[in-house]
Amino acid sequence: MKVFCILSDHRAFKSWSPAVHTAVLARVGIPGLYVPFCVAADMLGDAVRGIRALGIAGANVTVPYKEAIIPFLDGLSPGAESIGAVNTVVRSGDVLSGHNTDADGFLESLRLRGFEPRGTRALVFGTGGATRAVLYALTDAGAAHVMVAGRDPQKTVSLARRFGALPVTMDDPALRSLKADLLVNTTSVSTRSESIAMADLVGDLSVEACRLVVDINYGRADNFWQAFAESRGIAFVDGGPMLACQARLSFALWTGVEVDAAVFMSFLEDR
Ligand code: ATR
Repeated sequence: MKVFCILSDHRAFKSWSPAVHTAVLARVGIPGLYVPFCVAADMLGDAVRGIRALGIAGANVTVPYKEAIIPFLDGLSPGAESIGAVNTVVRSGDVLSGHNTDADGFLESLRLRGFEPRGTRALVFGTGGATRAVLYALTDAGAAHVMVAGRDPQKTVSLARRFGALPVTMDDPALRSLKADLLVNTTSVSTRSESIAMADLVGDLSVEACRLVVDINYGRADNFWQAFAESRGIAFVDGGPMLACQARLSFALWTGVEVDAAVFMSFLEDR
């Protein structure tokens, strides 16, 4: 019997991962289950020691602990090291290593939509934790120009420097006429009620070259990124496929079993 878990704060109980991973374990015939743990910030080290003590076979980590968990782990994959964040903990005996499947999950989700990032121009909105995985993924996959748009000039410039991207602030008028094949929203804002100013800004973008708009958030009604894409005949994808792809990659790291993203997607849609 294998037990997996997700570490987060109260948001652990809202995560779709326990239901979906438990369903996939059953589907592939691995006896096991996946449980959510709400961990207080000052107990994170104890929680990681608990992974060893309780014999937990593998874990996900999500907001707000993707960075905070790093000092408690025994090592990091090169990707997690470059991104500076961990979403997957792999156990080998008592050794716990941190990985990041968000970046490769993002790339897989683009390729599932027939978008190959090599040689393309990408404009990424946001300066948060998820932005780092997306910027790392795009530069690693050989995108020719990656631009990062943030509202805080300092954060935007330092993030751009770290990942070799071009910074642009959201109040820069030049943003409206930038040319990009791919537009990615990694901010937490998808609906008009979350930020009228940002919805208006996106509505004004003139991205004639754009072939795909991605909003990495999932399940938002009244999504202005989607409205923007659809009104211009551009393909749109929300964060569902990225979630499914990062989950399938974590599952493969823990179990050695490759499960098609479509299986994760179908359990995600059933929820
Ligand atoms: P995560 O780590 O999951 O990416 P986060 O760190 O909370 O989440 O990041 C949220 C992102 O959305 C940040 O880039 C945030 O911008 P700031 O860093 O300037 O706070 C961005 N964001 C949130 N509300 C926003 C708004 N109204 N307009 C523009 N960006 C916004």
